[in-house]
Amino acid sequence: MDWNELIAAACMSRIHAYAPYSGFAVGAAVLADNGQLYAGCNVENASYGLGNCAERTAVFNMVAGGGKRIAAMAVIASGDRAVAPCGACRQVLTEFADADTPVMLANLTGQTKLVTIGELLPYAFEKGDLPS
Ligand code: THU
Repeated sequence: MDWNELIAAACMSRIHAYAPYSGFAVGAAVLADNGQLYAGCNVENASYGLGNCAERTAVFNMVAGGGKRIAAMAVIASGDRAVAPCGACRQVLTEFADADTPVMLANLTGQTKLVTIGELLPYAFEKGDLPS
């Protein structure tokens, strides 16, 4: 697993963040099961609630590009500590990952923290919980 490559891809996408309202640019990158990298940035909107986080942009990019599952992921933003995905993104990541799928959280000063999807969202709502 080349974490530097994944973090670099997230960092490159962060440059394209459209965040005029919060001023907080975020980048994310997914290594998918097909071996491809898919990146994403946050995209805000004048109607604030319509904004999309970097993590979901990257995952939706993966799905649109033919990737099926997240093998690994990286997220990067500015700040004193490595950035962690919001709750909504954790649920979306869970849909396409396993509990032990690794996620590297990073900031621009080189701080990193490696966690798993299961650590980010324990006891997640899963497809199997739906009534049949
Ligand atoms: N944001 C992300 O893209 N990812 C996160 O993990 C946290 C927050 C975005 C949403 C919004 O565009 C901006 O950061 C401020 O919340």
